[in-house]
Amino acid sequence: MAHSATGRSIPIITPAEGVTEEMIRELVVTFYDRVLKDPDLGPIFSKALSGRWSEHLAIMVDFWSSIALRTARYSGKPQAAHFGLPLNEQLFSRWLELFEGTARELFEPDAAEFFIVRAQRIAESLQIGLGIGPKALRLP
Ligand code: HEM
Repeated sequence: MAHSATGRSIPIITPAEGVTEEMIRELVVTFYDRVLKDPDLGPIFSKALSGRWSEHLAIMVDFWSSIALRTARYSGKPQAAHFGLPLNEQLFSRWLELFEGTARELFEPDAAEFFIVRAQRIAESLQIGLGIGPKALRLP
């Protein structure tokens, strides 16, 4: 958080400091390698992405590069990509757990935190959009 002239906190919208394209590639490759080996998440990914795995990794590098480095290389629709997948709150928790572990292992605390906070926010909005998770709207 930065401070404006009036002393109010304003969100930082500049690229993440110290993050490089190489770091993003390492994060994506290491994380999805672990995802594939996970007994719960692995089968969902391999079924949905059979024959398109390297394409998925490239898309995910573009996605994180757009977020962290403002490269605008990603222009997909994350919500739409997750419709039709058998997802629930536990799977999202596991996804985040693996992501956090990977980021903390690979990066210095500030950079790790940058990715983790964003992944948490996006996971939350994906879950709201999919109607799952603690904040999902439930009709009586
Ligand atoms: C349980 C959690 C999750 C599962 C099982 C999951 C699974 C998947 C799968 C199978 C795809 C490929 C869809 C396709 O191309 O057919 C995909 C795409 C994608 N996922 Fe997830 N995902 C999860 C959570 C997340 C989270 C938390 C994020 C963001 C932080 C995320 C970001 C994306 C993006 C950006 C794409 C690419 C969409 C596109 O093609 O433009 N996912 N995910």
